[in-house]
Amino acid sequence: MSSFSSFPFGALPALLLPWYASAARPLPWRETREPYRVWISEIMLQQTRVAAVLGYYARFLSALPDVAALAAVEEERLLKLWEGLGYYSRARNLKRAAGILVREYGGKFPESYAALRALPGIGEYTAGAIASICFDLPTPAIDGNVLRIAARLADCGDCVDAPESKRALRATLAAAYPSGQCGAFTQALMELGATVCLPNGAPLCGCCPAASLCLGRARGTAKSLPVRAKKQPRRREDRTVLLLVSEDGRTALCKRPEHGLLSGLWELPNVPGVHSPQEAASLAESFGAKPLRLTASAEYTHVFTHVEWHMTCYRMECAAPDGAAPDGAAPEGLVWADAAGLSGTYALPSAFQKALRLSRKG
Ligand code: ADE
Repeated sequence: MSSFSSFPFGALPALLLPWYASAARPLPWRETREPYRVWISEIMLQQTRVAAVLGYYARFLSALPDVAALAAVEEERLLKLWEGLGYYSRARNLKRAAGILVREYGGKFPESYAALRALPGIGEYTAGAIASICFDLPTPAIDGNVLRIAARLADCGDCVDAPESKRALRATLAAAYPSGQCGAFTQALMELGATVCLPNGAPLCGCCPAASLCLGRARGTAKSLPVRAKKQPRRREDRTVLLLVSEDGRTALCKRPEHGLLSGLWELPNVPGVHSPQEAASLAESFGAKPLRLTASAEYTHVFTHVEWHMTCYRMECAAPDGAAPDGAAPEGLVWADAAGLSGTYALPSAFQKALRLSRKG
């Protein structure tokens, strides 16, 4: 086993750049070096697969084509554009950072790693990605993919989640960056991690452009690297969810608290624990609805980073709410959203979108 500091990463660009030039997937954010577009892509791609991002990326940029539009957007509209992507603080931080860019930088991106890093939601990874891709700076963007590649290349058995591993890699990799092609090198590493040096013991060493340099391959350790910190097990929470549909076809929603998980988004009325259909009917009444009949039920699970929700969902038809204008807030705090409101106005996270399928089926 060796460490990152002594590995000759300097030999890597000559191997990766020609490969990247011919093998890179044509992704929309690779057609530009405009910092706004690169920034949006890198934030969306955090914890999210490329295939899932493509549609969101196109929609987001046509709704909010520049920093000024993002700085000015209403939060509800922003969250609706982000609906289903998860990690909603990413969207809020985008807007906060856009405000700073407009107020302090005349709507332009600062061309330094440190100034980028100081913006809300821009960590070391994103600052490194934007600075290298847009401004040709030798600033590595180190995520789990790059740590995995580096651990295998260097046959490094140190835990890659330790801050000192990342620090050592950042320093040695920065020195290897090819002037004039910093962005292509960053993207080549990302591409290698996504398409060749695959996680979970499945590297495709036979088609790796860096195979000749790779100690993990030569020593047969690549499959079992990287060494990662043990993850905390997720907490399990049972919840009962009420899909309350009025006779005129509207769905009851309520707003989540302003802090904590999914803060400020909308949700279907729900309570902790597993409840029977009879209990669900009185719960519906306690939310201010008038349930008439139970029309369907289902169980499903939604997994977040630190918690998983085991949901028991009841669909109930309810009497049309009195006093509430279409889409208006009823006195009890429920909003009865029509189809247009559900699809165009209220940001309902995936955990609850799953329950809406009960309506589509029934
Ligand atoms: N994952 C993170 N950033 C990426 C990028 N620019 N291209 C492809 N996958 C990525």
